[in-house]
Amino acid sequence: MNNFIFHNPTKLVFGRGQISEIPGLIPEDAKLMVTFGVGSVKSNGVYDQVSAALVNHNYIEFWGIEPNPTVETLRKAITQARENKIDFLLAVGGGSVLDGTKLIAAGIVFDGDPWEIILKRDGENSIPYGSVLTLPATGSEMNRNSVISNKATKEKAAFISSRYPDFSILDPEVTFSLPPYQIACGLTDTFVHVVEQYMTTTGQSRIMDRWAEGIMQTILEIGPMIMEKPRDYDLMADFMLSATLALNDIIRMGISQDWSTHMIGHELTALHGITHAESLAMVLPGTLRTLRKQKYSKLLQYSERVFGITGGTPEERIELAITRTEEFFSSLGLSTRISEAGVGVETVEMIAERFNKAGVAYGENKNVTGDVARQILMESM
Ligand code: NZQ
Ligand code: ZN
Repeated sequence: MNNFIFHNPTKLVFGRGQISEIPGLIPEDAKLMVTFGVGSVKSNGVYDQVSAALVNHNYIEFWGIEPNPTVETLRKAITQARENKIDFLLAVGGGSVLDGTKLIAAGIVFDGDPWEIILKRDGENSIPYGSVLTLPATGSEMNRNSVISNKATKEKAAFISSRYPDFSILDPEVTFSLPPYQIACGLTDTFVHVVEQYMTTTGQSRIMDRWAEGIMQTILEIGPMIMEKPRDYDLMADFMLSATLALNDIIRMGISQDWSTHMIGHELTALHGITHAESLAMVLPGTLRTLRKQKYSKLLQYSERVFGITGGTPEERIELAITRTEEFFSSLGLSTRISEAGVGVETVEMIAERFNKAGVAYGENKNVTGDVARQILMESM
């Protein structure tokens, strides 16, 4: 196991009715801006609950942080926040509102255009912020990542905030209004986050492996049940907590990680508007097949411990585990092939060229260059 420092200070406030806890979580004299998405919170009662909790706070609202939040929208929020001398932010929504809010929090105290923060990958400073999460998927409620899109240049990239959310409120009941597609995406995103941190080599850490396998097994078990019963509190509670645990640093202590599926997926979103999790459902099987040799021992462990596959040759077990993974995504209603979204060879070449030009090399062995990304995408056709 490698050396590491773990320090995640986000306070999780979990359960029914917990939005009412907001007054004790934000200083009463804070100059507060509350940030929202496009409007789902108005129809499911979340906006009313937040407004009721904030009766004794002075605050302004910023609306319109879109899915795959754009720097174009966030620049407007930063201007408005500066004009109002905002010193605390409350994000109310899914991963996009949270990620966007992280850039606003960093942009307020940054001397320059916020896209420069993305280019540096590093948010040096930030005002405090908290969240009310409405969509389990990204883990953004308990991590420092923020993924931002640039409409003008058709790019999508991440930066690491200097600050974790001060608190996140997770009430599973607010997920009852999610459409089936967003639930499918949330389950898939959660699963792939775990795979990105797990699917490297064996023998690094037994405890990290078993945390990861536990989350994957939970998602495989509850996924079909949730699609049947999307308003079951206990199922949604397990889903919500799984999504948080999948990407709050707990399962990656002292181990290597991959993340190449995400990096390729971000390009598909930037160039074709494919929803984040669906891009992962399309790319992950191709990544596993292309890097099968490098990930051989972990793929075998995955097939046995996550899917219970013990019969057949090692090669057959690995292929069956990848097929089962793909079938899980399809069973949720997601596409698992880039061709199904109209992505052709031109896009594949463009992504390979972007990677090669930037000189990037992703994955635990830093060998997923543009050329390897091309192989992965051709495998995902
Ligand atoms: O905008 P509103 O009206 O709120 O509607 C949203 C949006 O249309 C809707 N929604 C959210 N909660 C709802 C709801 N509808 C009904 N009932 C509810 N309770 O769902 C739609 C999608 O929301 P969005 O926030 O975009 O989804 P998600 O949470 O999946 O976030 C995706 C973004 O997060 C990034 C992705 O790249 C993408 O930009 N990621 C962030 C990560 C992180 N911060 O660590 C890691 C991830 O890998 C990912 O890259
Ligand atoms: Zn993701």
